[in-house]
Amino acid sequence: MDETLRIYWELYNDLLPNELMIHKSHNLLRNFEEEFIEGPILELGCGQSNFLVEFSKTGKEIFAVDNEEFQLNLLKKRIESYAGKDVGKLHLLNITVPEKEIPLKIFSLVIASDFLHFFSINECKNIISQIIPRTQKGSLIYVKVHSRSHSYSESSDSGMHEYYKHFFTESDLTKLFDEQYFERMIFSNSVQNIKSKFTREMEMKWIEKVLDEYQIFDQQERQELFEENNKELNVGYLECVYRRK
Ligand SMILES: C[S@@+](CC[C@H](N)C(=O)[O-])C[C@H]1O[C@@H](n2cnc3c(N)ncnc32)[C@H](O)[C@@H]1O
Repeated sequence: MDETLRIYWELYNDLLPNELMIHKSHNLLRNFEEEFIEGPILELGCGQSNFLVEFSKTGKEIFAVDNEEFQLNLLKKRIESYAGKDVGKLHLLNITVPEKEIPLKIFSLVIASDFLHFFSINECKNIISQIIPRTQKGSLIYVKVHSRSHSYSESSDSGMHEYYKHFFTESDLTKLFDEQYFERMIFSNSVQNIKSKFTREMEMKWIEKVLDEYQIFDQQERQELFEENNKELNVGYLECVYRRK
């Protein structure tokens, strides 16, 4: 992981203790909590997942997949302190998807939040083909991805498109989640045009830490970078919950 991102996730861990992280996170899966079937939960690219922390109190077995050991360690501390004695069996798996296989279990819930946009559509097809044999009738699948309405989708910076490989349309998701296997329970298409005060202040602290880390102390240069980062952009994203047929 890039050093600037590591600084971001450490700051996220410092500024968003569990209760606040859950409070600030929009969780569509809460609508369907009563429908969770028996079986473990899997999250791909879990980071410090608000979902896994929140649902850890259900006592369900959890498979948390990420290819950053430090994120898995932070998640472990979060879950243990949040769920306490209610915690189910926790598997922290340092796996790079889709190269290394995910465990062949039948999951009640699969979460891919802010994850699939790091892959091409063909790689997404591969990932979803791995979800099919790992779910059964009634399993739920939550997906959140950047949409075409995201300002970055129009970026002329090729590095941006190497990092975020695909910006999704509703039709992309419909094709990926074949109706032979999945029924869509909810679809949401959101665009945030103005950053919240909380996000803006957090991003400012992040930039400050990055500038200190790279020893950029020239006031004008710092100011320009703060202003650049403070510009508004459209954060467009699609969310879906599917149920396995
Ligand atoms: C944007 S974060 C999302 C974290 C979390 N799902 C959330 O919504 O807060 C993406 C996470 O995916 C992980 N990741 C990126 N590429 C991956 C890959 N190929 N295999 C496994 N994890 C990956 C990163 O380390 C990071 O923790």
